Amino acid sequence: MKSAHRQIETIIEPDPVVEGAGVRLNRSIGTRRLDHLDPFLLLDHFESNDPHDYEAGFPLHPHRGIETVTYVLRGAVQHKDTLGNSGRIGAGDVQWMTAGRGIMHEEMPQVRPEGIAGFQLWVNLPAKLKMTKPRYQDIRSGEIPQIKKESGIRVRVITGTVDEVSGPVTGIAANPTYLDVFVPAHASFIQPIHRGHTAFAYVFEGEAKFAGDEKEDGAMISHPRLVVLGDGDYVKVVTGANPVRFLLVSGKPLHEPIARYGPFVMNTQEEIEQTLQELREGTFVTT
Ligand code: FE2
Repeated sequence: MKSAHRQIETIIEPDPVVEGAGVRLNRSIGTRRLDHLDPFLLLDHFESNDPHDYEAGFPLHPHRGIETVTYVLRGAVQHKDTLGNSGRIGAGDVQWMTAGRGIMHEEMPQVRPEGIAGFQLWVNLPAKLKMTKPRYQDIRSGEIPQIKKESGIRVRVITGTVDEVSGPVTGIAANPTYLDVFVPAHASFIQPIHRGHTAFAYVFEGEAKFAGDEKEDGAMISHPRLVVLGDGDYVKVVTGANPVRFLLVSGKPLHEPIARYGPFVMNTQEEIEQTLQELREGTFVTT
């Protein structure tokens, strides 16, 4: 089969939302316009230098049936759960948390002169792993390989493989790729993505074209935008007068029914009811 580039399927302008105890952020997956992008359930982008936008944070709340991936670009997020885990996610760090059968935690952005910036992505778990034991992969910035290409392109590999270098996050059901890519002005970047996997780019600095080699005259897409990519074997990104920085994320779709209620994502409404009953009875997190 001929190798095919992935064309743009949809371009989405993020919705401003207020979440947690009053954190302002931009949401591009998990909205009325785009409920989910199987296996991805939510993508939030937070960025502010005003403590009023983020200091209220995300006090104690539960999760079940999903993974939450927190990537901090600037500032720090303090986290703590009722299982006894705690720590700080600093600039450049990633926390890939598999909530599985349940965790109850708080996530509090720290008030600092540099403010806060980063992302949270929710990845769905397949039915057989929804009640798995919770697992944390806390990755410090220095453990994330950075590929530097001769043209000035830089890629941080959180999970997945670029030029035979693999990221430190492993053992994730969706077999995801999660890259932070910088492409300087007047350059182009090509990255293979497994055919059949869902893929998107989230442009958070600068601008680029994502139209592939047959349509290099395609539209310049400026930040902040979610670019949903159609199927194919690779993505090609071309810059003009300005550089671009974006997340490039892909994963294997589950094709399973989704029953969603806030921080719980299961397969059936009965499983949601069961979860709510456990919360009421105080048996939600037992170990
Ligand atoms: Fe959370």
